[in-house]
Amino acid sequence: MKLDLPRYTERFGATSLHGVQRVYELDSGFDDGRPVSESIVNIGNNQIVDIEGRMAIVIPTKGERLRLLEGVLSGIPHDCLTIIISNSPRQPVDRYKLEKEALQQFNRFVGRNAFILHQRDPVLSEVLRDVGYNSILGPDGMVRTGKAEGMLIGMLLAKMAGKEYVGFIDADNYVPGAVNEYVKIFASGIAMSQTPYIMVRISWIYKPKISETGLYFSKWGRVSETTNQHLNSLVSYYTGFETEVMRTGNSGEHCMSLKLAELLTYSSGYAIEPYEIVNILEEFGGIIPTVNQDAMDKGVEIMQVETRNPHFHEDKGDDHLKEMVVGSLGSIYHSKICPPKVREKILEALRSKNMLEESQQQEPPAPHKIDPFKDIDVRQLAKVLSKASTYAQ
Ligand code: GDP
Ligand code: CO
Repeated sequence: MKLDLPRYTERFGATSLHGVQRVYELDSGFDDGRPVSESIVNIGNNQIVDIEGRMAIVIPTKGERLRLLEGVLSGIPHDCLTIIISNSPRQPVDRYKLEKEALQQFNRFVGRNAFILHQRDPVLSEVLRDVGYNSILGPDGMVRTGKAEGMLIGMLLAKMAGKEYVGFIDADNYVPGAVNEYVKIFASGIAMSQTPYIMVRISWIYKPKISETGLYFSKWGRVSETTNQHLNSLVSYYTGFETEVMRTGNSGEHCMSLKLAELLTYSSGYAIEPYEIVNILEEFGGIIPTVNQDAMDKGVEIMQVETRNPHFHEDKGDDHLKEMVVGSLGSIYHSKICPPKVREKILEALRSKNMLEESQQQEPPAPHKIDPFKDIDVRQLAKVLSKASTYAQ
C-alpha cells in the first residue's frame, strides 16, 4: 500500500495526533526498495502479511443480517484471527445459532479458524467473575449488553490468543472490498508507527446516502461532525491553537496494539470510540499523572487514514443517532480534563439539537466505565475459547 506519511501532527503531552493521511495505491506489490517520494511511504505486501498474522479482527454484531456478516468475513485477510462477538437475540429465532452455522460453513470453505462467542454466554460471565473483571458485569453478574462490552471481550480473546494487534470492523458493512481495505490500512499504519503504543483509525472518504436524485456522496456522518468538533475544542483548549485534526471520533473501524489497548479505560456502549481518544489524552496527555511511564517514554501515536472505498452500512434511524450523540458528547463532557468552556459548548449543542430528555436538562448522563484489562489473567479464558472455536466441526 502506498500512503502519506503523517504531514501534520498535534502533540499533546506524549501523544501524537496525526492529521488524515491518504492512500495512493491500495496494493503496491512487494517492496522493491525503490524510494517513492519524500512524503509517501510504500508498505510492501510481505510486511502487511506479516502484521496480519499478528492481528486479530473483532467483529461486534447484534442482530445484523447474515448476508452482511458473511460479506464482512469474506473481506478479512486470511492470516488474521477473526473473532465475532455476538449479542444477537436467541429468541424467538436463535439468531446466534444461525451466525454460528454460517461461520462454521465459512471456516470449512476457506480452511480458517474463526471464533464466535455470545456476549451473554454464562460460562464467559462466570470466568470474568472468577478473574475479578467486575466493571464489565451488570448487576445480574452477567456481561452487560453494549457494543463496547463486545469489543472488550474480543480484546481479551485476542490477548489470550497471543496476538499483538486488535482491529475492529462492524458487521453491518455492505462492501467486503472496503473491509479488506480497512485491514490493509491497519497493517500499514502499524508498519509506519514509531512506537509500540499505536492506534490507527479509519476515516471514510464518503458515506453515501440515498436521496431522491440518486446517490449522494456525503463526506460526514451527522454524529461524527458533532463529536469531532468537540474533541477538537478539547485539544484546542490545551494547545491554545484552534485545530481540525480530529476527524475520526466515531470511527468503529480502528485498530490498536494490545500494549496500548490493555492500558485504556473504556466507556460503555456507543461512547467507546470517542472516549478512546479522550482517555488517551487523559492518560498520556501530560495533564494528569499516569502510572504507565513506559508509554510516556515511548509515546502514543494516533493515525487517521482515509479510505479509497466509500462506506456503506445499515441505516439505523434517528433514535440510534440520538443515543450516539448523547453518549459521545457525554463521554467528553464528563472527562476529568474537560474544561468548563468546552462543557458549556457541549450543553449548548445538545440543547439546540433537542437531544436531552427532561430529566437530563442539567447535563448528559455520565457513561459507565470499564477498567483497563492489563492485570486481568486471560489464561482462564481458554475455557471459553475452546467453546468458541467452531473450526471444522
Ligand atoms: P453505527 O454504525 O455506529 O451507527 O452503529 P451500529 O448500530 O451499526 O453498530 C456498530 C456495530 O456494533 C454493528 O456491527 C452492531 O451489530 C454492533 N453492536 C451494536 N450493539 C452491540 C452489542 O450490544 N453487542 C455487540 N457484540 N455488538 C453490538
Ligand atoms: Co453501522
